[in-house]
Amino acid sequence: MSDSAQMKDFFGPLFPLIGKWEGDKGMDVSPEKDGEEMSPYFETITIEPVGDATNAAEQTLVVLSYKQIVSRKADGQVFHHQTGYWYFEKKTGEVLYSLTIPRAVSVLAKGSAKESGGKTEYEVRAVASDKNYGIIESSFMGAKASTKGFTMRVTVDGDKMQYKMNTALRIYDRDFDHSDENSLNRKDLAHI
Ligand code: HEM
Repeated sequence: MSDSAQMKDFFGPLFPLIGKWEGDKGMDVSPEKDGEEMSPYFETITIEPVGDATNAAEQTLVVLSYKQIVSRKADGQVFHHQTGYWYFEKKTGEVLYSLTIPRAVSVLAKGSAKESGGKTEYEVRAVASDKNYGIIESSFMGAKASTKGFTMRVTVDGDKMQYKMNTALRIYDRDFDHSDENSLNRKDLAHI
């Protein structure tokens, strides 16, 4: 599939996400034993078409895969790595977003996409108590640094993307709003 009108039709509201995105205005707020740490960051997010998947002969999902690699500005070292999929089901309008991070934590979040005036806004959320759109984590993380909820809002306007993720943690015996946000520019539409 190489014709972009065909791709747009196939991937529906996920189409604007496809590409290689770069941004250097990131800000991470993460937990410390006695407070919080704010870390400016830069990152690359690569979002590529996968195709479609049919489930139980009834459900068709269109799917993109992504890889997000985040580096701390202070030392240039990668300090966050995230992979997963974006899913869209035409029949229900549902948008799903999955993530796995190398702390042994995975999330499947559910939401929707709204298109208006050339912009597309995505919002997805997961809560630990939800059997489907919830969180899986190792027993260590469950006991010591548990993820209780996850919300992400993303806006794509042409070749610009902005996002904010809020990860609700229970760590060091307190609740902590771990947040990450950035603005990115699309560098290319490789692989389509
Ligand atoms: C751009 C995105 C993100 C960045 C840059 C980032 C960065 C960080 C940093 C710097 C810490 C503190 C680590 C330490 O104290 O050693 C941290 C902790 C943590 N993050 Fe993230 N994070 C991101 C997204 C996420 C997401 C999406 C999740 C899960 C849904 C998550 C889950 C956690 C957990 C569970 C901890 C606690 C571990 C600990 O401090 O011992 N993070 N993160």
